[in-house]
Amino acid sequence: MHKEPVPLGEIEQQVRACHACPLADGRTQTVFGDGDPHARVMIIGEAPGKNEDLQGKPFVGAAGKYLNELLALANLEREQVFIANVLKCRPPSNRDPKPDEIQLCAPFLREQTRSIDPEVIVTLGNFATKFILKTDVGITHLHGQLQQAGKFKVLPVYHPAAALYDPKKRSALEQDFTLLGQILGD
Ligand code: URA
Repeated sequence: MHKEPVPLGEIEQQVRACHACPLADGRTQTVFGDGDPHARVMIIGEAPGKNEDLQGKPFVGAAGKYLNELLALANLEREQVFIANVLKCRPPSNRDPKPDEIQLCAPFLREQTRSIDPEVIVTLGNFATKFILKTDVGITHLHGQLQQAGKFKVLPVYHPAAALYDPKKRSALEQDFTLLGQILGD
């Protein structure tokens, strides 16, 4: 028998109370994620940055502004999707997440995914892609190729922050979000 999904509000409280790793000591607040709790599309990023840590919401800085434009290419408004990160606390100086931090934080993202039960998961960049697909294949090879992970369709794409300053990645990312619109329209 499968357990019932944990309600999103309950997972959020658990995240707020979490002190499982030292990232808790450096945070202003946790960043649970936000959006439609019944979204067809769940977007998964890496970890909160400075602005996200201050505001308590994911993707509120420059990468977030660009993400909103990308969503529009898939005919989606930000309010229609749910956006979360692999890590719920900001790593110091925005360094990469460490494997033990990912492992300790992972149950929250797993429960969020079960609770939201989206049709498509879009993974932004290497950390989210490797986590969801349990693969070591990099995003350069996987981006734009629709995958299946259990019951979920997974579309790996470049991280918008990486694409902001690299025109080649930007055009690939924009194509991949256009593809997302097609997948949803089918
Ligand atoms: N980058 C991420 O991966 N997540 C955020 O929330 C902001 C920037």
